[in-house]
Amino acid sequence: MAAFNLKINGVTKTVDVDPTTPLLWVLRDHLDMAGTKFGCGIAACGACTIHLNDTAMRACVLPVSAVGDQEVTTIEGLSEHGDHPVQKAWLEHDVPQCGYCQAGQIMTAAALLKENSNPSDDEIESAMNGNLCRCGTYTRIKAAVKTAAKNM
Ligand code: FES
Ligand code: FES
Repeated sequence: MAAFNLKINGVTKTVDVDPTTPLLWVLRDHLDMAGTKFGCGIAACGACTIHLNDTAMRACVLPVSAVGDQEVTTIEGLSEHGDHPVQKAWLEHDVPQCGYCQAGQIMTAAALLKENSNPSDDEIESAMNGNLCRCGTYTRIKAAVKTAAKNM
């Protein structure tokens, strides 16, 4: 066990955990932040996507010891009132079906638009490619990313 001071959504949280614990389980089990989802545990589905200094990362394969001083943003901290342009576009396009993958989809889309404010269709497809949706909401996701880009 070791103590880690993590900067999460602008607040420093201290946890005492095994250094190899994936950040996903620190968030969900130690900090009661259940917005970040577990899908595969092997970086293959994107359900656990968070931002590490604005870059989309898979929390299921990120050991807590690798976070250091970097800023972690989860779906809970993407915006104060759920009104990030990506979240608004998601509502406008009624994107989610079961919803399970959607936090990860939104975090990946937000990271893409931070880096590239006007992505082409190919760039959207390539950025969102690793986020799987069993409900097949891909068409609405793409439309919502375009709307969010327009409104940002
Ligand atoms: S749970 Fe992390 S990528 Fe699937
Ligand atoms: S909305 Fe159900 S898995 Fe994506």
